[in-house]
Amino acid sequence: MKETINQSKLSKPKTFFLSLIILSLFFLIFLSLQPHKSMQKPISDLKIRPGYTSYDNYIHHQLQKTTNPNLRKIWTSTDWHRKIRVFTQFFNRLKHEKLLTNSSKALCVGARVGQEVEALKRVGVNDSVGLDLVPYPPNVIKGDFHHQPFDDETFDFEFSNVFDHALYPDKFVGEIQRTLKPGGICALHVAVSRRSDKYSANDLYSIEPLKELFDGSDLVRSRKVDGFGLDTEVVFRKRKFDVKNY
Ligand SMILES: C[S@@+](CC[C@H](N)C(=O)[O-])C[C@H]1O[C@@H](n2cnc3c(N)ncnc32)[C@H](O)[C@@H]1O
Ligand SMILES: *[C@@H]1O[C@H](CO)[C@@H](O)[C@H](O)[C@H]1NC(C)=O
Ligand SMILES: *[C@@H]1O[C@H](CO)[C@@H](O)[C@H](O)[C@H]1NC(C)=O
Repeated sequence: MKETINQSKLSKPKTFFLSLIILSLFFLIFLSLQPHKSMQKPISDLKIRPGYTSYDNYIHHQLQKTTNPNLRKIWTSTDWHRKIRVFTQFFNRLKHEKLLTNSSKALCVGARVGQEVEALKRVGVNDSVGLDLVPYPPNVIKGDFHHQPFDDETFDFEFSNVFDHALYPDKFVGEIQRTLKPGGICALHVAVSRRSDKYSANDLYSIEPLKELFDGSDLVRSRKVDGFGLDTEVVFRKRKFDVKNY
């Protein structure tokens, strides 16, 4: 009896230190497995949704909805005039603010069946085209917004309400800045206070990440809007001289 008690008393500090060492080891292994701070995205109000196992998988997911024949019928009939009317109001306002003119060469990124392109043409911005994975001639041509099929400095104005569909937001914005002419305008409709649909590839919690991503542009303004589930309009102007080159 005596012996056992003594033994357990003696082994207590030993067990404690052993546990401490093992715990510290686990902690060190845990730390070493964490991504390095400097490799993490500094942008925290923008989260890429997990679950896309490959780029093909992402594109396939996007196409599922866009190619749905029943939905395409609705978008080109019931939805058609209703959406054009709303887009027309947005573009007329931008025209009044001199951010868009009849002579602007305009691109709508992720335009699907292109009600926004039709609205631009109706307000007098005749040289307008849309880009989407699925073409809808003549207003929407086929292409990936991560690699726009246009030369540098092509457009005066770009509009998009599909930022949330970008798997690579830096490429999405980089391509807009590449294809805009110096002084060109980009107007985005985004959701910041509500989450968008299951086809979104990222979630945005403020416009701060956009300000960081548009590193070659200046913020013109942002305002609350009611745009088909998107609540914020953000407008940037590409700088005439990129400070990074000087
Ligand atoms: C929510 S819909 C927006 C449709 C249109 N802008 C509107 O308001 O009616 C998103 C669109 O983004 C397109 N899209 C998704 N990923 C894309 C990509 N990587 N490149 C080009 N378009 C893409 C989809 O095909 C879909 O038509
Ligand atoms: C722009 O086009 C619209 C529609 O065609 C027209 O009503 C308007 O007068 C034009 N604006 C200018 C400044 O030419
Ligand atoms: C734009 O298109 C409309 C309709 O086709 C036409 O009446 C107008 O003259 C065009 N404007 C310009 C500047 O080409």
